[in-house]
Amino acid sequence: MNRQQFLLLTTGALATGCQSGGPTAGASGGAGPGRVVDAGPAEQYAADGVYEGFRSQGFFLVRNGSRLFAVSSWCTHRKCKLKAEPDHSFYCPCHGSTFDPAGHVTEGPAKRDLPVFALRTENGRLLVTLPG
Ligand code: FES
Repeated sequence: MNRQQFLLLTTGALATGCQSGGPTAGASGGAGPGRVVDAGPAEQYAADGVYEGFRSQGFFLVRNGSRLFAVSSWCTHRKCKLKAEPDHSFYCPCHGSTFDPAGHVTEGPAKRDLPVFALRTENGRLLVTLPG
């Protein structure tokens, strides 16, 4: 193998490595872009509040009346894990950013709202699609 062949090979390997964070299947399997997380039976999220069981996987489930949504549990400032507050807002212990219950920034240094992830129910189970 000459120098040019080596460079092409390693460049190709690096390019492939950069794509390794792409789509993966969660516990439920899943198709399409992103990672699907099976959050269990949808009926367990019937009461209003913030469900923190998937915080370490990157999201909170929030029930507010008839609305159920998944919002990122990672601060948009520098990716610290957020804490859910009793009033259903979110607080970042790293630099003090706060977000309202819908994920909108209420105090910086974060400037971007929390991403909201796609939800769907399949066979009674709640599936959350996270970015790939
Ligand atoms: S990482 Fe959250 S405020 Fe800085």
